[in-house]
Amino acid sequence: MAWLSEDFGNPSSVHGFGRKARQGVEDARDRVAAAIGASPAEIVFTGGGTEADNLAIKGASHKLRGNGNHVITTSFEHHAVLDSFEWLRGQGFETTVLPVPESGVVDPAAVGAAVQPSTLLVSVMAVNNEVGTVQPVSDIVHAVKAANPNTLVHTDAVQALGKIPVDVHAWGVDLAAFAAHKVGGPKGVGALFVRSSVPVEAVIHGGGHERGLRSGTINVPGVAAFGIAAEVAAKEVHESAERLLALRTKLLDGISATIPDARLNGDLDRRVPGNLNVSIPGTEGETLLLLLDQAGIACSSGSACQSGAVDPSHVLLALGVPRELASGSLRFTLGRGSSEDDVDVVLSILPELVRKARAAA
Ligand SMILES: Cc1ncc(COP(=O)(O)O)c(C=O)c1O
Repeated sequence: MAWLSEDFGNPSSVHGFGRKARQGVEDARDRVAAAIGASPAEIVFTGGGTEADNLAIKGASHKLRGNGNHVITTSFEHHAVLDSFEWLRGQGFETTVLPVPESGVVDPAAVGAAVQPSTLLVSVMAVNNEVGTVQPVSDIVHAVKAANPNTLVHTDAVQALGKIPVDVHAWGVDLAAFAAHKVGGPKGVGALFVRSSVPVEAVIHGGGHERGLRSGTINVPGVAAFGIAAEVAAKEVHESAERLLALRTKLLDGISATIPDARLNGDLDRRVPGNLNVSIPGTEGETLLLLLDQAGIACSSGSACQSGAVDPSHVLLALGVPRELASGSLRFTLGRGSSEDDVDVVLSILPELVRKARAAA
């Protein structure tokens, strides 16, 4: 709060107010670096996870162009990644979008097999944002580097921090994207881990901030809050996992008992503890969402509403979930503020809401 109400210095200014703000930024950089197992010089602050993914994918691919022309990702990535790949394709890069098994867990051997001598970059997310499945990131890095030691590996780790232990050097990745708001920090702030000596070209040009990789005056209150939030998230990761797993088990058991044909999407065990994604046959996810919202329950259907048409989640379709089931899906996310009472409330009203949603379908 002090950065918003008292200390207005610009961290790029040399005067005392500026130096104080710079200290705040560097303190935050230390905290974010420590939370992900990096050194502070490897952190580039960005305006969020999308920007970090764009910088990694476009920036590294452009910088390395000439050594090759091929880039690889998977079909269940966030659109920050998929659309960056699509953009690269428009720029003349050759792109491979690998299929993902029904489990929602990428097979490292399949990634390694797709790597060619011309492959510049591979991008596979660490945790999927819709089904919560945790990817074998270090095995993927091994498979890629065994096939081509020059290929860079980027991971979208936006959903990983605070949910699983994150250690970018143990994973062996070259680039990793993070967002503050997924760990209780503010929206519109993120970071890209860039392993030292990994070449990246800027996407945003200007005053040369963040070692020339991300120009623009740094959002001091935002990064300061990100630093604290990342530190807390990393410290509490095991404790919160245990608590959330117990809540999720209760939620899943309750749903299975009262809505026996509900179907779990993605592997149950290899997923972050706070995620539950289920398809409820005979319903529209959007209808259920509205009914839940009226009851004060904030849920997500994983489907995006574009130009009036409700599209089923591209993640569920990528996992081979049939279209009708993908349309009737609900994502429950349990977090810091979720309690056992919350789960009880959901379980007490969900069967009736499902009945209503089925009648409306
Ligand atoms: C996996 C993943 N990647 C990227 C993003 C984009 O992050 P931001 O909204 O900070 O741009 C999100 C946000 O939901 C996400 O879940």
